[in-house]
Amino acid sequence: MKKKTKLQAMRNRYVKRIAVVSDMHVMSDYAVFPDEFVKDSGVSIGPSDGQKILLGFYKDFCRRVDEWECNTVLLAGDLIHGQNPKDRGTGLGSTDLKDQVTALGLLLAPLLKGRTSHWVSGSGYHNSVQGMKVEALVCSSFNDAGPVRHHWHGPIANLLVEPYGIINLTHGGSGAFIYRETAMAREIMFGKVAYASEKLPKIRGYIHGHWHWYCYLSQPDVDFIQMPCFVAYEPITIFTKYYTRFQPDIGAVILLIDGDGKMRVERFLYPAPHIADKVVNL
Ligand SMILES: [Fe+2]
Ligand SMILES: [Fe+2]
Repeated sequence: MKKKTKLQAMRNRYVKRIAVVSDMHVMSDYAVFPDEFVKDSGVSIGPSDGQKILLGFYKDFCRRVDEWECNTVLLAGDLIHGQNPKDRGTGLGSTDLKDQVTALGLLLAPLLKGRTSHWVSGSGYHNSVQGMKVEALVCSSFNDAGPVRHHWHGPIANLLVEPYGIINLTHGGSGAFIYRETAMAREIMFGKVAYASEKLPKIRGYIHGHWHWYCYLSQPDVDFIQMPCFVAYEPITIFTKYYTRFQPDIGAVILLIDGDGKMRVERFLYPAPHIADKVVNL
């Protein structure tokens, strides 16, 4: 019999192995982008040097997901960048949403292959156009492509992950730009109040995106994970105002649930490339 590798032995301790990805912002000039991409018009575009770095990190994460043999993927929104109407469509490889859907599909295909997935919608600014949620189309395209099921939940999903408990997956969107840990603690407290008032079941874990910032807050009966992203600093006014605070964390996480219902968070974080804000000679 083949000798078990160390990773195999570790892997077998966990009954659920779940990859979580958020805020890819595909088609932003500052976000992860596929190796080769042909627009709907037939024009080929490829990644910039900074985007190649992000793509390398994303591929590394996908390799880790394969190594851990994750069985499920959670997607926490802002997967495409949308049309950036405030800046009149600048800073994008293509404003055509068909192109954004195709590029996202190319990037997600290796991550979702053979794995079920659960999706929540991202910020309306990035993913909504009149009458449709663009990410939902990508989710349904994966259902059309094969037998594994992919589940679109809209803004919120309460996922029962046995034997851990309920994970609340939403994109998030708190305005607490600076002291974000306070907003996390506040949400945990109100979750407990809602449970005590019998308005909600007990939420054991929260997973949110939106802030492009990694934080893991663990209390005895609840875990809260703020997701990193795959987009570098974007040079827009709202981020420039808090430039130092808005340096992103690049990467994603794998959640490992053992037979006793304990969660271990494996984070994969990478150094953020500076695409819009690289140091230049005087
Ligand atoms: Fe985002
Ligand atoms: Fe967002």
